Amino acid sequence: MSRIGVFGAGYVGLVTAASLAELGNDVVVRDVVPEKVERLLRGEVPIFEPGLDELLAKNAERLTFTLDAGEVVDGAEFLFVCVDTPPVAYSGDADLSRVWTIVEELPNVEGNPVLVLKSTVPVGTGEKVRAALDQRGLEHVGYASNPEFTAEGRAVRDFMEPDRIVIGAFDPDDGERVEALYASLDAPVVQMDVNSAEMVKLASNAFLMTRISFINEIANVCEATGADVVRVAEGVGLDKRLGPHFLRAGVGWGGSCFPKDSLALKQLAANSGYHFQLLNAVIEVNELQKRRVIGKLERHLGKLRGKRVALLGLAFKAGTDDTREAPSLVLASRLIAEGAEVRAWDPVVDGKQVMPQAEFCMTVQDAVRGADAAVIVTEWDELRDLARREIRELMARPLIVDGRNLLDPAQARAAGFAYEGIGRPVSPSDVLPERLERDREPSTS
Ligand code: UDX
Repeated sequence: MSRIGVFGAGYVGLVTAASLAELGNDVVVRDVVPEKVERLLRGEVPIFEPGLDELLAKNAERLTFTLDAGEVVDGAEFLFVCVDTPPVAYSGDADLSRVWTIVEELPNVEGNPVLVLKSTVPVGTGEKVRAALDQRGLEHVGYASNPEFTAEGRAVRDFMEPDRIVIGAFDPDDGERVEALYASLDAPVVQMDVNSAEMVKLASNAFLMTRISFINEIANVCEATGADVVRVAEGVGLDKRLGPHFLRAGVGWGGSCFPKDSLALKQLAANSGYHFQLLNAVIEVNELQKRRVIGKLERHLGKLRGKRVALLGLAFKAGTDDTREAPSLVLASRLIAEGAEVRAWDPVVDGKQVMPQAEFCMTVQDAVRGADAAVIVTEWDELRDLARREIRELMARPLIVDGRNLLDPAQARAAGFAYEGIGRPVSPSDVLPERLERDREPSTS
């Protein structure tokens, strides 16, 4: 079993640390935010990630948290770098400043630990880090790229039961040592050069985003032609060459990875003189997709000024409290800009913090009270039975716009709601009675 240092106590760092401890290693986690370290030392988990609390508690004896870089490095055989790499303002390049700080401030390291980069970085970063280590006289420190493929909300499972483990190393010995860490996991390991390992992560994410933007565009064409994207995705996904995953049409992708990684790959290509046309389109489709809900609401309600809209779900997806780049934020801003009143609900996000311009409600009932429309933005289980009588009676108008195709359209309509999903046929019963009347009014112009 090894002694492992982990830099960064965010989503990736904590999941990596807890999982490596679960595999039997002694792990020291370092973060630069004193408050975070204090909370972790008290046994509190600063983020919401299913299964993480239990895993940290279970392995408490093998886990230490510190502010001190020296303590992390002391006797460590591996140094995992799990810091975030957000986009730089204006340029969209990945901001590697936190990675550089670690490399520059690495205390004098004894022994020959392997620096393992888990953070998502542009291709070429490993070569630069290697050169910087050598320049600092740290030739004895190994280097490996070992990208993480964990999705929030299922990160622990993704770590412990991965589809594959990708390792890129300059020195095959370093790659072998990292591979040995994962020996007890039942997953294929692919060893390759560092540049390729870095690209695997960017390409995987870009491919996933492409699938979502693709199915969202198919959804939009379904809306124009009367097909049902849920059935279409089912039919398409059964083709073994295509597979069923990441074909859920909706309000677009968000989160801490896809938006920043798409920009980083786009800029990486551009900085290398290549215009990545398809990726640009994938990003643009997603931006438009987040806004399409506004058009749907306007079709039913006319002008949104003075209308009350319940936004149900603020997290960028279910199972997480993360609202980074969440479609809910774009929707709330657009609705408020149109003069609508927004009432928001989410079971785990503190809406008062992330959406101060909206009225945050503690229950779904409170959020839909007096609302002209309810919009499902996050696919929380709590919303699966939204189309019920109690909700209909609380609303001023029984309109549900289902941004995640969470509900059964027939059931929602049978329960007396006007219902509109994403890429699903609209029924004549979906037109609100007052809208029909308004349409029938003779034109005065
Ligand atoms: C993603 C990758 O899955 C993971 O491998 C990588 O390490 C980090 O980025 P994450 O952002 O946590 O993980 O969430 P994921 O479950 O992949 O969803 C990403 C976004 O796509 C969410 O906004 C989700 O709602 C959306 N999505 C996903 C769809 O709109 N449709 C789908 O079919 C799947």
